[in-house]
Amino acid sequence: MCGIIGYVGKSEAVPILLDGLERLEYRGYDSAGVAVVSPSNTLQVVKTKGRLSVLREHLDAQDPLCGTIGIGHTRWATHGEPNDTNAHPHVGSDGKIAVVHNGIIENYLEIRASLERKGIPFHSETDTEVIAQLLEYYYKKLGNIMNAVYAVLGRIEGAYAMGILCEDFPGQMIAARKDAPLLIGYGEDGNFIASDVTALLAHTRTVTYMEDGEVAVLTGDSVQIYDRERSPITKERHTVDWDVSAAEKGGYAHFMLKEIMEQGEAVRKTISPRIKDGRIFIEELAGMEGYLEGLRKICIVACGSAFHVGMVGKYVLERLLRIPVDAYLASEFRYSEPLLGDDTLVIVISQSGETLDSMAALREAKKRGSKVLSIVNVVGSSIARESDITLYTWAGPEIAVATTKAYTTQMALLILLGVYCADMNGRISEEEYKTILADFLALPEKVDEVLKNIEAYQKAASRYFNQNSVFYIGRNLDYALGLEGSLKLKEISYIHSESYAAGELKHGTISLIEPGTLVISLATYAPLLEKTRSNIVEVRARGADVIVVATEETAPAVKDQADELLVIPNTHRLLQPVLAVIPLQLFAYYVALNRGCDIDKPRNLAKSVTVE
Ligand code: M6R
Repeated sequence: MCGIIGYVGKSEAVPILLDGLERLEYRGYDSAGVAVVSPSNTLQVVKTKGRLSVLREHLDAQDPLCGTIGIGHTRWATHGEPNDTNAHPHVGSDGKIAVVHNGIIENYLEIRASLERKGIPFHSETDTEVIAQLLEYYYKKLGNIMNAVYAVLGRIEGAYAMGILCEDFPGQMIAARKDAPLLIGYGEDGNFIASDVTALLAHTRTVTYMEDGEVAVLTGDSVQIYDRERSPITKERHTVDWDVSAAEKGGYAHFMLKEIMEQGEAVRKTISPRIKDGRIFIEELAGMEGYLEGLRKICIVACGSAFHVGMVGKYVLERLLRIPVDAYLASEFRYSEPLLGDDTLVIVISQSGETLDSMAALREAKKRGSKVLSIVNVVGSSIARESDITLYTWAGPEIAVATTKAYTTQMALLILLGVYCADMNGRISEEEYKTILADFLALPEKVDEVLKNIEAYQKAASRYFNQNSVFYIGRNLDYALGLEGSLKLKEISYIHSESYAAGELKHGTISLIEPGTLVISLATYAPLLEKTRSNIVEVRARGADVIVVATEETAPAVKDQADELLVIPNTHRLLQPVLAVIPLQLFAYYVALNRGCDIDKPRNLAKSVTVE
């Protein structure tokens, strides 16, 4: 999705803006631009369709854009195709005010029509231009830029994070937020705004998260934040503990590969602080024993891969807690009039903590009287802040669009939570508790072991990278896992793929299996191994090639049915998906590599989806 960076201080703004935009590239974008107020107090804008390299070429081809205050933007098109005119920043008709904006202004057509009736010409197809034009209109009418900003915020409906420059106030940048992330960074020689903390890490790790309705005025040496009534407020400053190198490739060809390889450490950091003296201890749940014991239902709500974690959670938590657990797509849940109440816990899972649908589902759950526990990676993100209880995964920054280490850490943490609650409710025997705990402690090393088997994944990928269509099949936890394997493959390699509960295949989809079709069969769930084996035999009988992912325990029973066999170590049955997803991630990665795809920035996708 779109990215915002803004700077005001003593240094030249353009290099800082470009560096910040480069660090936001991973979010996905199709055009980029910057606006700077020059030393002679003139607003200058350069923007273009395409990658940042094209913007750099444009900037190099003209007189240098000088100035120590500026805003920059990477756009992921929503309203209007990606082109130079629709790129941000947008300016008002007099060219005095520039705006960068993330989010969607829902009533933009109505505002545009009313301004056009007043003779104000529009140039782009975007909703954002409405903000710039309306700001200029009110600025002229009211003669005060802050009055104009509040007047605009009173008229627009929808979601926004925005940065504003006005050439009449050359040392001042204004920021506003509602339902889209925006933070303020405090640097040594200036101050910043950004939609994402990674854009700021090279300059500062001291930040303040803006809340809905707030407006900030930044100069080189001051930051003043106002609430929606326009009263000045003082807000907490947070220290971000990610460092710059965590958001760099560190010698790997792609962020995705780096992040896959970091999974052992990420899992360790997520689970080990929560295991003390041979027991699981989730500090954030201290004092909530009574509430947890009284739970009658759990709804897990998320999007994309986080939803797939929810599917694993459904099987695991239901088995451990013996209460109904359902996994919902956030985009459906929010409009489904869900049956909730104070005996239902809603678990929201999100890497970014900014996914709009998940955020809306969270608000819906709270409105209906349920507590919300979130599992989030980005500290201080909107979902983390609005939840009743937040459990952080300590995966570090995830840059590749295709999630990997966030997925495995979310899954490990959700299972840990399940075991913790089962123990509290007396639903797990001491023997099983001890076994699973030992396997939790051994998990990071086993993850590293699976990662060592790289040649097997490369070999399978080189053999099958030319497929048109791939099917993933599995039962129970293996079915939930197949959903993720299939998504990984399609999002980065653009190969059509589907995931099916293995027993469901013969109810329709098996008609698509023909000689040479690739089926990836997940055979790690030992209790249903014989059934899964029969399903493999069925597809082979129709000519399919089969890659089997099995454990040391299950491999002997299925190896004769495998064209390629990928074996992972044994662990507790409920933890198996944490290991089993790794061959699927690396298979997808090497297939995409063989096909020459843009792995970290797949077409049409964005890292954090902040629109519906
Ligand atoms: O930031 P979130 O975890 O809320 O994001 C949810 C999905 O958009 C995300 O998992 C998406 O499906 C990934 N690209 C999958 O790799």
